[in-house]
Amino acid sequence: MIIDQHTSLYGVVGYPVRHSLSPAIHNAAFAAKGINAVYLAFETMDIEGVMRATRSLGIKGMSVTIPHKSSVIPFLDKIDRLAEEIGAVNTVVNQDGCLVGYNTDATGALKALEQKIDLKGRDCLIVGAGGAARAIGHILKEHGVRLTITNRTPFKGESLAERLDCSFIPWEERDGCKPDIVIQTTPIGMTPKIDECPLPGNAIKRGMTVMDIVYNPARTRLLKMARAKGCTTISGVSMFVYQGVEQFRLWTGIEPPVRFMEKTVKKALAKAGMGR
Ligand code: ATR
Repeated sequence: MIIDQHTSLYGVVGYPVRHSLSPAIHNAAFAAKGINAVYLAFETMDIEGVMRATRSLGIKGMSVTIPHKSSVIPFLDKIDRLAEEIGAVNTVVNQDGCLVGYNTDATGALKALEQKIDLKGRDCLIVGAGGAARAIGHILKEHGVRLTITNRTPFKGESLAERLDCSFIPWEERDGCKPDIVIQTTPIGMTPKIDECPLPGNAIKRGMTVMDIVYNPARTRLLKMARAKGCTTISGVSMFVYQGVEQFRLWTGIEPPVRFMEKTVKKALAKAGMGR
């Protein structure tokens, strides 16, 4: 790759951010499509400064990650309707000096699900009530999915259920729900605690579609159990790939090299010993 006076700059801002797979996925996609651009990681708490630099340096696009997804909003010129409803932005597009915020955590999760299941009219149990649950809940509701939330802390689960105008079931009763789709949005099962599972065995039945947003490891204990019971499974790797795919589409307007981006992430995870 040649870096020259025409090279465009993209990046991810977060704290911490050194573990991020976003540089790998986007640099690979730029190279595959012959786009003269580089994507870097900016580890800082100064989100206002980064947004100012995005304008002044003409950085074309930024991924925004923890802890800046909500605090970035006041520094943008425009915000997409869905991102505004969710209250979080993970993607900034610099449209000739106008900074526009989007949420591809939501659209990426939707794409990952739509590869495997027709969503309309389905029942879905969302496990957890944090930022990821809020993003996924909003977009699924818009696509005609009937939602139920369960969460360890009842107050947080009930307030998300109220916001999404859906039902809440207490954590202790989460195995009593028999939905078409289960989406697990907590960190349970993530490296190093890979033996933990957010749902008891009797909560998973043959024919369900089970998605886990954890991507390290790629096959969590929950997904292994679901696979063994004959469920359709969707890994956090798929959701991660599609949030990146949707970012690439917003930034470049070019059809993203999806399979290549997926392969790049799997390779990077395998290299880090998290590909299984
Ligand atoms: P994110 O923005 O990534 O979704 P978050 O906002 O910190 O992360 O939310 C984490 C979610 O995982 C919450 O629903 C949290 O439950 P509480 O509201 O009870 O804190 C859930 N969570 C985290 N660790 C958990 C654990 N060990 N058992 C059950 N739920 C857990």
